[in-house]
Amino acid sequence: MKQALEKIELAAREELSRIADPAELEALRIRFLGKKGELTAILKQMAGLSAEERPVIGQLANRIRADIEEAVSEKAAQLKAEASERKLKEERIDVTLPGKAPKLGKLHPMDAVMREIEDIFIGMGFDIAEGPEVEYDYYNFEALNLPPDHPARDTQDTFYITDNILLRTQTSSVQIHVMENRKPPIRIISPGRVYRSDAVDATHSPIFHQIEGLVVDKGITMANLVGTLDMLMKRLYGDECRIRLRPHHFPFTEPSAEVDVLCFNCGGKGCSMCKGEGYVELLGAGMVHPKVLANCGIDPEVYSGFAFGLGLERIVMRKYGINDMRLLYENDLRFLEQF
Ligand code: DAH
Repeated sequence: MKQALEKIELAAREELSRIADPAELEALRIRFLGKKGELTAILKQMAGLSAEERPVIGQLANRIRADIEEAVSEKAAQLKAEASERKLKEERIDVTLPGKAPKLGKLHPMDAVMREIEDIFIGMGFDIAEGPEVEYDYYNFEALNLPPDHPARDTQDTFYITDNILLRTQTSSVQIHVMENRKPPIRIISPGRVYRSDAVDATHSPIFHQIEGLVVDKGITMANLVGTLDMLMKRLYGDECRIRLRPHHFPFTEPSAEVDVLCFNCGGKGCSMCKGEGYVELLGAGMVHPKVLANCGIDPEVYSGFAFGLGLERIVMRKYGINDMRLLYENDLRFLEQF
């Protein structure tokens, strides 16, 4: 029996030295030390031993069991250390290798300028208002003092959903929504998409963008309008920028004006870009018509206001010297990456 035990010890040590992974080690542990293991099998035969032999063999068996257990746990520790060493080696990062630069996106020039204008107005205490693109005739025309047979409607032909519902032709419709829902003082701008039944060319698109402005309070005058627009243009185009107002007609403002800015190309001398004028037209504006205020339940005897509407495409094109509006919509990266 002593020999059998020593044989087991030898075999266990021999096999242990060859083991290379934790699963094999566990199998070996079970085979030698487990309940149905080789050592247990021998110990079960101890009943047949004499009283003198039993403690001797018992001691030997215990020592061998302890030794094998120790060797197994040493081996386990060794395998674990080797594995983590290997992992460290495999996962080593060479921090001196050049990195892969991520491709950064950027804002479309239309969005960039839109946000710039929003920031300028927020700085002057304006809120941003929104209105629907699918609009009632009333908000797009009638409440703005354009009754059904008004000739100015011809210049703003649009897409009709029903006789009464259309795609808005101007952000001026938002003026009405805002005045219906808020009491003065009102100071808002409203950027958004507008629609007209125009054919596409270098300066026209059936979908384009406007930014509407509206201020209503006691004692608002044309001077407030000029001051606000002058500030806007100086922030957008630089301190040398000057504006000029020309009399014009819009049904929803009285008096009305078209607002020009000094031509950045020639500084006012006259060139091909401003067609010899020295100024380029940028937007429409005026004092809110008393009828429009009254349509929204605001007493024109107490309150007055100014409004303006500018075409975003035109501003972006002027700012970057873009001569064809279609470039703004084609999403050609070769074009967009220049900004
Ligand atoms: N809605 C006008 C257009 O689309 C632009 C405009 C002119 C807006 C004068 C205004 C304004 O608010 O006062 O042509």
